[in-house]
Amino acid sequence: MEMHKVRMVQPLNLLPVEERVKVSQEAGNNTFLFKNRDVFLDMLTDSGVNAMSQAQYAAMMNADDSYAGSETFYRLEEALKEVFGTPYFLPTHQGRACENIISQTFIKPGQSVLMNYHFTTTKAHIMRNGGKVIEIIKKEGLETTSELPFKGDLDLDTLRQEIKTAGAENIAFLRIEAGTNLIGGQPVSMANMREAVKIAKDAGILTVFDASLLSDNLYFIKVREKEFADKMPVNKCLNDITLELGKLFDITYFSARKLGCARGGGIITNREDLYNAMIGLVPLYEGFLTYGGMSVREMEALAVGLRESLDFHVVEQTPIFVEAFVRELLAAKLPVVTPAGGLGCHVNAMEFCDHLPRELYRAGALAVALFIASGVRGMERGTVSEERNADGSERFAEMELLRLAVPRRVFSLSQIKYAADRLVWLHENRHLIGGLKFTFEPKILRFFFGKLEPVSDWPQKLAEKFRKDFGDSL
Ligand code: F0G
Repeated sequence: MEMHKVRMVQPLNLLPVEERVKVSQEAGNNTFLFKNRDVFLDMLTDSGVNAMSQAQYAAMMNADDSYAGSETFYRLEEALKEVFGTPYFLPTHQGRACENIISQTFIKPGQSVLMNYHFTTTKAHIMRNGGKVIEIIKKEGLETTSELPFKGDLDLDTLRQEIKTAGAENIAFLRIEAGTNLIGGQPVSMANMREAVKIAKDAGILTVFDASLLSDNLYFIKVREKEFADKMPVNKCLNDITLELGKLFDITYFSARKLGCARGGGIITNREDLYNAMIGLVPLYEGFLTYGGMSVREMEALAVGLRESLDFHVVEQTPIFVEAFVRELLAAKLPVVTPAGGLGCHVNAMEFCDHLPRELYRAGALAVALFIASGVRGMERGTVSEERNADGSERFAEMELLRLAVPRRVFSLSQIKYAADRLVWLHENRHLIGGLKFTFEPKILRFFFGKLEPVSDWPQKLAEKFRKDFGDSL
C-alpha cells in the first residue's frame, strides 16, 4: 500500500492512435527522440524522473549557493557518511561522469574490467580508455525466465578462473552493479557480493560498486535473502546493509538520478589514496570539488533523498508495482522477464516478436508498436542498444528486451494496469508488428539518437486494427 498521498499533479496527454503513428515516424521511431508532450505514460526510464518528497522540495530552499565550500556540500557529504559510512566524496554531474573518472584513472590500455553485467555508458567509457569488458554473471542471469531470486549474482568459479587466466595485473578492477539494469533490474545478493569482493581482494584487485540501482536491490536483499528476513527494525536493517556495502568496496559510485531521487552523481570511498588519484578529474570535467556539476538545490534534495532511500516504504514502491505489472502480463501468457526485478517490467521481445528476423530489431519494433497501441513510451534494451563489432557486423544482444520503467512513486496502479492491458492487446495482434532499419546510425551509443524507419507500412496497419477494435477510443 502506498504510504504517501499525491499533492501535486502533472496533467497527461494521450494523442489519437493516428497521431501516435505520425509522431513516432517524425522521431525516427526511436523513443529517445520523442517529445514528452506526445507521450502518455513515460516509462522510458526511472532516471531523474522519480517523484520527490515534500522534505526534498523543502530542503532545496535551504541551498547555499557558493562556488567553493558551500554548506550544501558539507550537508550532502554528511548524509553520505551516515548512509554509506564513507568519508571521501567526489561530486559529479551524473552517473556516467563517475564512470569516466574511474575508467580514466584506473584502466590501462589492454586491461580487463570484470563485472556481473555491463551498463551501456559503463562499457562505452571502459572501451574508450582501452579496456575490455568481461561479464561473469551466473548463467540464469541471461535466461529470461528463471526462479533464481538473485539473477544479478556473479558466477564465482568463472570469476576465479578469469583472474587466473588473465592474471591479476591485467585486470583494472572488479565492478558489481546493483539491480543489474540490462538483464531486467535483477538484484545481487549480499552473500555473493561478499564472496566476489573477497576473491578480488585476495588477488589484489580493486573493487568498484555501481550503486545507482541500490534502492531496489536493498528491497530484494531484505525480502529474499534469509539472513536479513527477520532483522528488525526494517529501516535500520537497510542502513546496516548499506553501511556494510560502503565498507566492502574500495570505490562506490552512483547516479543520483536514480539513487536518492534527485539529479546528479557521486563517487565515494574509504581510501584517501583512491580519492587523491581521482580528484584532479573532477574540476576538469565536472566543476569545483564542492558541487561537481550539480546545482546546490539538487544536492540538498539528494541529501534528503539518500536518507529516504533507507525507508522501507519508499524502497518497496517500485518493486511492488513491477511485480503487479509482471503478474498481469504472466496471467495473459505474455513473455516477460521473471522473477520480477526492480526498475521496471521487462518484456521479452525475442519471443514476443519471434516472427521478425533479428536484423530487424525485435525490441526496437516492439517499443514503436507499444507506443502506437497505447501512448506508453518504453526503452529498447536489445540489439539497437549494442555497438557494432569492429568489422561493422551487427552484434546481436544476448537479450531483446522492451523495458517499461516504473519511476518511484510516479504512476498509479490503474496506469500500470492500462499499460498491461494494451500490451495484452498488442500480443494478440503481434503478427502486425513489422521490423525497423536504420536510416541514421551514430557510431557511439547509437540508441540515443539513431533514426530508424519501418520496413513496410506496418505502423499504419497496426493503427487501423486498433481503430477497428477500440472504435473512437484513444
Ligand atoms: N549505472 C547504471 C546501473 C545505470 O542504470 C545508469 C543509468 C548509469 C550507471 C549512468 O548514470 O544516467 O546518471 O549517467 N541508467 C539510466 C537508465 C540512463 O535509463 O537506466 P547516469
